[in-house]
Amino acid sequence: MVVFIVNEIDIDHDITYIFNKKVTDQGAFMKNVKTFKKMKKDNIKIVMVTAYDYPSGKYVQEAEVDIILVGDSLGMVILGYEDTLKVTLDDILHHTKAARRGADDTFIVADMPFMSYNLNIKQTKINSALLITQGGANAVKLEGGKPSRLEAIRAIVDCEIPVVAHLGLTPQSINAFGGYKVQGKKEVEFNEILTQAKEIEKAGAFMLVLEGIPEELGRTISEALSIPTIGIGAGKYTDGQVLVYHDILGMADLKPKFVKNYAQLNKDIPNSIKKFIDEVKDGKFPTEENIYNPIK
Ligand code: KIV
Repeated sequence: MVVFIVNEIDIDHDITYIFNKKVTDQGAFMKNVKTFKKMKKDNIKIVMVTAYDYPSGKYVQEAEVDIILVGDSLGMVILGYEDTLKVTLDDILHHTKAARRGADDTFIVADMPFMSYNLNIKQTKINSALLITQGGANAVKLEGGKPSRLEAIRAIVDCEIPVVAHLGLTPQSINAFGGYKVQGKKEVEFNEILTQAKEIEKAGAFMLVLEGIPEELGRTISEALSIPTIGIGAGKYTDGQVLVYHDILGMADLKPKFVKNYAQLNKDIPNSIKKFIDEVKDGKFPTEENIYNPIK
């Protein structure tokens, strides 16, 4: 049970923003699809951060993020794969459950892994439903905008499951793209991505992640759609931004141009562990304050 005292402008009355009220019900503070639409209308930036387990879910919720994404980036930052393609539905389920335990009052989007929505509509519906019913997610995300993906979006939305779409440098397509390359630089690609974005909105997605595209395309799509766009390497005109937890904290091995580190845990973590090792070896740990009934 979480108790929040909220001092925000009341934007929408139901369970979106609650004005100066004590809210004691689990999930009562959670933003939802209506809130995000209203935030775009009111020009309030939406912030999404990835989380993959109990502590990251807890910290990200404590920081009052708008949306948690249990991204398939977990394949790289948690499981140590070189890309996202080996991530399974079970991996996402396992990590969504853990993130939910840490973040009981935040809207969670669970990523649909590679090939979990590409085979047929029945499998797509089952897999997306599992992320909601077993994982505890509020919505699912899938990559791409070609006709088969639009069909998948329509099918999932038809099950009353909110869908976030994802266009641009979609990491599940790296083999097809020939690497991690910015998409939409050429006019023909620019127009194709813009057309797909419009089709995605028509298919019923409530949000669109735009990754690795020129700022001009990010702005054009954001202005053309009524659903919110969330950018990662898509410039500053999208309706919100998303970053990977490990990138914010400076824990990832690579630092692409669109990443800003707000901490340097890649140094702080090994330094802290090294200090522990040194103190044990030097007999400086444990001290009296760490010992039950210390021998005097
Ligand atoms: O998997 C992920 O973390 C993502 C974000 C980078 C948008 O898809």
